[in-house]
Amino acid sequence: MRLADKVAIITGAASGIGRATALRFAQEGARVVVADINAAGGEQTVEQVKREGGEAAFIATNVGQEADLEEMVAFAVKTYGGLDILHNNAYWTEAKPLLDTTVDNWQRTLDVTLRPVFLASKLAVPHLRGRGGGVILNTASVHSIIGIRNFIAYQAAKGGVLSLTRALALELAPEIRVVAILPGPIDTPALGIDDKSAIGNLITATPLRRLGKPEEVAALAAFLASDEAAYITGTGIVIDGGFTTQ
Ligand SMILES: NC(=O)c1ccc[n+]([C@@H]2O[C@H](COP(=O)([O-])OP(=O)(O)OC[C@H]3O[C@@H](n4cnc5c(N)ncnc54)[C@H](O)[C@@H]3O)[C@@H](O)[C@H]2O)c1
Repeated sequence: MRLADKVAIITGAASGIGRATALRFAQEGARVVVADINAAGGEQTVEQVKREGGEAAFIATNVGQEADLEEMVAFAVKTYGGLDILHNNAYWTEAKPLLDTTVDNWQRTLDVTLRPVFLASKLAVPHLRGRGGGVILNTASVHSIIGIRNFIAYQAAKGGVLSLTRALALELAPEIRVVAILPGPIDTPALGIDDKSAIGNLITATPLRRLGKPEEVAALAAFLASDEAAYITGTGIVIDGGFTTQ
């Protein structure tokens, strides 16, 4: 068990990559705070963890609200006695090209996808230091390193997540490691594609010829959060079936 006795917060853990990571972290021995705006989904994640014999607790969190982030961190410390791992993973966007991107869309995308990486990290760091160190994982995206059409606000947010990861890693080393995960097309509701031919095109553009599974991203997150990744900080690890190699 690579995360025995660790306490982890995962935002956006009611679904997709966050849920798979909550399950995986718990299997690795961590006690997991499931933070999400979706209470029903968050409770389901907790139930699933408990069914497998793990430990988890849900806190309703809108990561776009500073007060909610404060409560989230305080909840982890109160419930489990400290904090070792913060995984900033929640996001929101509506994919739009430039001329259809409203200021509201831009602002909300950045408020939910980028600003919490700054704010939750700021709130978590004193507690991570209190335990002698820790890990901050940030879910960025292949959008952090390549341009993809029609995602104006999301591109900016995810570019920011990777850049902020580097800055935080420098500032917080050597006690705290900060690493970004850059998923390519992963089979979660976030893909937002109902159209089979659009999924087919995505698969054709992926050298490994399939979508990734949330569990595969969770396995990477578990490795990066563990001491096995003790020499990795300030960088982004791509997990994209080869999507960005061409
Ligand atoms: N699926 C992909 O192909 C893919 C690719 C690259 C990056 N990502 C990134 O992976 C991360 C997880 O996405 P996913 O694919 O699991 O999507 P998902 O839609 O399954 O999960 C996103 C979660 O974020 C939560 N959320 C939304 N707004 C929130 C808010 N204001 N406060 C708290 N929680 C909120 C949702 O309720 C949901 O549970 C995101 O950062 C996303 O940008 C996903």
